[in-house]
Amino acid sequence: MPRLSCWFIRAALLYLAVGITFGALLLFHKGIPFEPFVWRLLPVHVEFLLFGWTVQLAMGVAFWIFPRFWRSRGNERPARLAFGLLNIGVWLAGVGPLLGAPPVIIFLGRLAEAGAAAAFALHAWSRVKPPGAEPPKIPQNP
Ligand code: HEM
Repeated sequence: MPRLSCWFIRAALLYLAVGITFGALLLFHKGIPFEPFVWRLLPVHVEFLLFGWTVQLAMGVAFWIFPRFWRSRGNERPARLAFGLLNIGVWLAGVGPLLGAPPVIIFLGRLAEAGAAAAFALHAWSRVKPPGAEPPKIPQNP
């Protein structure tokens, strides 16, 4: 598995563990209310599990298994940018509300997540190809 996929998938697993723990706390609190603060974990729970786990896992596996050009995965820089932007976005949009951040911070988080999707699409586009298709004329990894 390529190193970048290891990063994507290990990060996704960490978000899954924390996201489900917060989900379990939320569920427990619904049954036996013990600490009102728990409800403030809901945005983090949602962000960690929808973007941190689900989207990031999909990107990590796609980067690994999408068709290659012989041994090359094409221009990997947009995929690396997607990794950075996605994780910045999850923290700004997910943890921001928990820390009382102003709405502009959550908006920047969403912008970063959208940027991650666009950057990953830029990387993956040419790899969505039939077997034997010619690689695009773009600079390979520096
Ligand atoms: C990948 C898995 C999961 C995803 C994507 C997810 C996503 C969500 C979303 C989007 C909401 C907000 C729903 C709404 O506003 O109506 C939510 C709420 C909640 N989730 Fe999860 N969740 C996941 C797994 C879990 C697990 C495993 C648990 C418990 C162990 C859990 C416990 C809760 C609770 C208690 C709420 C609050 C429900 C309420 O508003 O009354 N979630 N989750």
